[in-house]
Amino acid sequence: MNKDVIIALDFPTRQETLDFLGQFTGRKPFVKIGMELFYAEGPQVVRDIKAMGHRIFLDLKLHDIPNTVKRAMAVLSRLDVDMVNLHAAGASAMMRAALEGLTRPDGTRPLLIAVTQLTSTDAAALKEELLIDVPMEETVLRYAQNAAKSGLDGVVCSPLEAAGVKAACGPAFLTVTPGIRFADGDAGDQKRIMTPERAGQSGSDYIVVGRPITQAADPAAAYARCVREFLGQ
Ligand code: C5P
Repeated sequence: MNKDVIIALDFPTRQETLDFLGQFTGRKPFVKIGMELFYAEGPQVVRDIKAMGHRIFLDLKLHDIPNTVKRAMAVLSRLDVDMVNLHAAGASAMMRAALEGLTRPDGTRPLLIAVTQLTSTDAAALKEELLIDVPMEETVLRYAQNAAKSGLDGVVCSPLEAAGVKAACGPAFLTVTPGIRFADGDAGDQKRIMTPERAGQSGSDYIVVGRPITQAADPAAAYARCVREFLGQ
């Protein structure tokens, strides 16, 4: 199992992103590129960061009809990223089509991770807007099981849900968990948080860490601390 720390590159421009990455002179961190940077700078920023030696989680959360997602995933796969994601709400046919599109001619492909329910969706929205009557936890676990049955590699979830997802979908099914804060850090707008050390013990395979590293006075030192605490090294 390749446990690792993924830094969320939540920057609006290529220049700010490259200035930030320039501070990492040792181990090249696994990084997450989201919609903001991708839509601002396009696919070239992905190629450039890849060429610098970083592994990349391209966090674009695809959700469309199977054929469209399949073709879009084939394009993302050619960018040579290491991990991509989609909404499990697109259902099994879309998830299987995504896997087909992602698989390169040589049989390799990026890891494919599902978003279950967004953490911004609360119980009231689930029931009254999405008309889902079962509790949130049951929805999350069922969507995770749908993803596992469709052949996906894992889900994005809270570190508090990681053990439950592993129990429902098997130990090899990956959990990618944001909501990480140092014990002496600022929670910011994250509510259900865990330290890197506790996340490591709770079954998270990859932790996604943004502000505790990007806003630190010394980001390289904060990253090194995060890796040390998460991997127990
Ligand atoms: O700065 P912070 O550590 O809170 O950043 C966490 C990253 O993980 C951000 O890029 C955020 O969009 C993402 N994320 C999250 N919660 C989710 C899914 C993604 O915080 N449920």
